[in-house]
Amino acid sequence: MKILISDPLAAQGVQIFKDQGFEVEVKTGMKPDELKQAIKGVHGLVIRSATKVTADLLAAADVLKVVGRAGTGLDNVDIPAATAKGVIVMNTPGQNSNAAAELAMGHIFALARHIARGTRGVKEGKWEKKQLRGTELKGKTLGILGMGNIGRILAELGTGVKMKVIGYDPYFSAEDIKARGAEPVSLDELLARADFLSIHVPKTKETAGLFNAATLAKMKKGAYLINCARGGIVKEEDLCDALTSGQIAGAALDVFEVEPVPADSRLLFSDDLVCTPHLGANTHEAQVNVAVAVANQMSKYLKTGEAEFAVNAPK
Ligand code: NAD
Ligand code: MLT
Repeated sequence: MKILISDPLAAQGVQIFKDQGFEVEVKTGMKPDELKQAIKGVHGLVIRSATKVTADLLAAADVLKVVGRAGTGLDNVDIPAATAKGVIVMNTPGQNSNAAAELAMGHIFALARHIARGTRGVKEGKWEKKQLRGTELKGKTLGILGMGNIGRILAELGTGVKMKVIGYDPYFSAEDIKARGAEPVSLDELLARADFLSIHVPKTKETAGLFNAATLAKMKKGAYLINCARGGIVKEEDLCDALTSGQIAGAALDVFEVEPVPADSRLLFSDDLVCTPHLGANTHEAQVNVAVAVANQMSKYLKTGEAEFAVNAPK
């Protein structure tokens, strides 16, 4: 059986497929038409976030049985089309959560203490000591949208620096949210109370564009917004307006509506924005974790039919 790896995967994962006797082709950066050719004769497709598994690609597949996402987000996979085609889709929950939570915490520190602008200023020969007075995290309210694997770890990190942690997640009971380290609140309360609001939800029909002019206006004036989840959950134009008016004091983005960010994006002209190029899961540890997990899960499914962490159930 053949495995196609169409986005970069740590060598440890590639080796597991080989040790299990699969034929492995690693071919990254393919255009959609190239991928439609490459998918023929492939039983297992390994992706991260760059490959788009569309209905068109699935229609071109002839023997495909499983799509494995080395990571969490599945907004780049047409799951109903995969189900209709009889293809199992699986991801690797929890394997990169610590990395993403640590990056979100890093962004919170960076925003509170102007680390990025301070660095740039010093390198440009400026000494902006007076302009860059910061704010301490101790005693401030950290609002977490989405109390899943990443949200839960961020709650621990926030508590560790003596922040008051509140969380909103309609898919958990109030008791579960408390057990995950946050005071359960409604969405409106999260917006109104958080000094730092960090987003940790998947991009779905419900969450796309959730942070727009109306919701940003409901946030506490002068709060900070952090998005290490998915581009498009925050409407970038509306965020730029909120940064310009001072409604939002600063924002940190790891994910964007368009990646890489176009050079003329308004975001790039804001001094109050800290950004990273989708680095949430980009640690040595997380990349090995997701690669090993996806290779073990897919090998097991192809050999035994047992699907771990499948998100669909084709007949
Ligand atoms: P998870 O599934 O463990 O947690 C997501 C949580 O969001 C769940 O508890 C779910 O109930 C909740 N949720 C869903 N819709 C909601 C809504 N409308 N309002 C509030 N809560 C809602 O996933 P996770 O591992 O914590 O990852 C969260 C997201 O972060 C992923 O879907 C992925 O898109 C993104 N992510 C980004 C990076 C990165 O590199 N920047 C790394 C890992 C994950
Ligand atoms: C994820 O959803 O796991 C992240 O986007 C990480 C990635 O694959 O880059």
